[in-house]
Amino acid sequence: MSKGKFYITTPIYYPSDKLHIGHTYCTVATDAMARYKRMTGYDVMFLTGTDEHGQKIEDKAAAAGVTPQQFVDNIVQGEKGILDLWRLMNISNDRFIRTTDDYHVAAIQKIFKKMYDNGDIYKGTYKGKYCKPCESFWTESQLVDGKCPDCGREVQDAEEEAYFFRLSKYADKIQDLLENTDFLEPRSRVNEMVNNFIKPGLEDLCVSRTSFTWGVPVDFDPGHVVYVWVDALFNYTTALGLFNDKYNDYDEFWPADVHFVGKEIVRFHSIIWPAMLMSMGMPLPKKVFGHGWLLLDGGKMSKSKGNVVDPYVLAEKFGVDALRFFLLRTFPFGSDGNFSNESLIQTINVDLANDLGNLVSRTVAMVQKYFDGTLPQDQETDETLDQPLVDMVAALRDSYEAYMEKYAFQNALAEVFKVISRANKYIDENAPWVLAKDESKKARLARVMYTLLESIRVCAALLIPFMPESCTEIMKRIGASEYGWDSLKGFGVLPMDVTVAAGDVLFPRIDAEKALAELEAAAEAAKKATLPPLEIEPFAEENVDFETFCKSDFRVVKVKDCQPVKKSNKLLKFTLDDGSGTDRQILSGIAMYYKPEDLIGKTLVAIVNLPPRKMMGQDSCGMLLSAVHTEKGEERLNLLMLNDAIPAGAKLC
Ligand code: MSP
Repeated sequence: MSKGKFYITTPIYYPSDKLHIGHTYCTVATDAMARYKRMTGYDVMFLTGTDEHGQKIEDKAAAAGVTPQQFVDNIVQGEKGILDLWRLMNISNDRFIRTTDDYHVAAIQKIFKKMYDNGDIYKGTYKGKYCKPCESFWTESQLVDGKCPDCGREVQDAEEEAYFFRLSKYADKIQDLLENTDFLEPRSRVNEMVNNFIKPGLEDLCVSRTSFTWGVPVDFDPGHVVYVWVDALFNYTTALGLFNDKYNDYDEFWPADVHFVGKEIVRFHSIIWPAMLMSMGMPLPKKVFGHGWLLLDGGKMSKSKGNVVDPYVLAEKFGVDALRFFLLRTFPFGSDGNFSNESLIQTINVDLANDLGNLVSRTVAMVQKYFDGTLPQDQETDETLDQPLVDMVAALRDSYEAYMEKYAFQNALAEVFKVISRANKYIDENAPWVLAKDESKKARLARVMYTLLESIRVCAALLIPFMPESCTEIMKRIGASEYGWDSLKGFGVLPMDVTVAAGDVLFPRIDAEKALAELEAAAEAAKKATLPPLEIEPFAEENVDFETFCKSDFRVVKVKDCQPVKKSNKLLKFTLDDGSGTDRQILSGIAMYYKPEDLIGKTLVAIVNLPPRKMMGQDSCGMLLSAVHTEKGEERLNLLMLNDAIPAGAKLC
């Protein structure tokens, strides 16, 4: 009988790039939770999907020379796309929503209209700062050092006629919700939200755009598209059938039990989302859990930084289950964690190969060796030796459950591994190889084996949400047919005359040095593979003498400002810090390749002792260095960018 309904969601992912291990982390956590809840007897709805609208997607599609729909289709459904990745990772979602699905688009139009009709959406003029990569609007006071508080990138001034949502109206209610209920967890995120966003004053939210078209059209005002976050957040309800006929389980599953979201989108889920639901007169989700980030070398992984880790490479090399397990065993779910290949390999070798794998293979091998694979009914208990392990096994389900209910995956797994270690110790304490030498100890030996098999049964069953394939395989090996939730509390469920089956090594030990070298080589190869085919300029035939070369004064410069040059579609005007204390102005013909605002703050290289010259009536004192190559017959310039830690004025030699 079902214990009730449980609705859990991941964020819906932007199909702007292939997903990396950081994205995989949240989906694997949600999957483990969904599987756990199913195991405990809930009727689970697990939703994931893709968030396909917005200017970023429109721009990327244009750059790739395809339509936005073709662009997202490729990343969602194409080879090694998002759907492939979830299949590979054994994600058991019940539903997958794409925000470009017709039913969702039509429902969003109705939702927008309803909030407009009830007076919570009104027309005004948007003036402010916009972070394009994050699709987020910010007020001046929210910026950090003038940059986007989420990603640290430059923001743009934006002004346009737009619709606004009366977020300010809901400020008190939201503050109360956050401070006086368990709506948002971990608790530390509550302070962050209240102090950084609510206390400084919640401003109304701009919820439509007119500067691009790739979005849900506001049907009563052509030219406006719905702000991507409004479109995205309501996915959690349209995917259940709100305002559409595609699905019809809204009444069964809404409100959601928990939304798992990364920490940078907690603001959207814990402030904007409940406010819009209040406006719609809909029940609020029971919980939002803001998990931490997987960091690489201390920083967030991102495609633009070029430091993403490919889940395909890791899963192929180490196995899907090992990767799933590592993600949830190593990092506390609510905090950030540093990803490294070294710790992945270590976790596999210690927990999986040594502890769990060994326990299973030793036990199965001994049952085969000493009893031809089937234990006898005649078994002899030794209270003193057996009870400590038996007690631990009997108590395990409850302690595991207590942690799982708090989304503390790492702690839940630690509980299981305490029992696994204890079981390994039990083997040494009982020395079965000694018992086996004495015919009169056969019954005692059989009980030792039974105790081990039963311990494995409970531990491996509780690990199924994390490693579904391997742990179901373990059940086959130890001859367990009953391992449902009710069978995991207590001891003695396996039949006394259980029969085991051998198999291949479950978790092979990894040769760390070899694996690390291979991963490095694979990363290098992947980098090269993404480089476009080059038509290289012929090398110069004439030599230049060293003295002449040394006359060129190359300096590190920092971009203080960068503006388009009127009437020129080629030139950008740079104001540069060259370390001299006086600004240097250089005009460079790179407007076709860069947006001026993207270059502010960058560290570049200039030759500074060229004679000044006039371009479009303006002085240009030097030249910025670029790498030039030809791609598909067209010339491309790439500004030479250096590490920002190098000071302005440093000489290149
Ligand atoms: N489309 C929005 C979500 C809309 S939900 C109504 C979005 N998409 S995203 O693809 O950029 O990110 C999806 C999730 O992946 C976010 O929860 C984000 O925090 C998570 N992660 C992205 N990189 C991550 C890490 N490096 N580590 C952990 N999670 C990370 O935001």
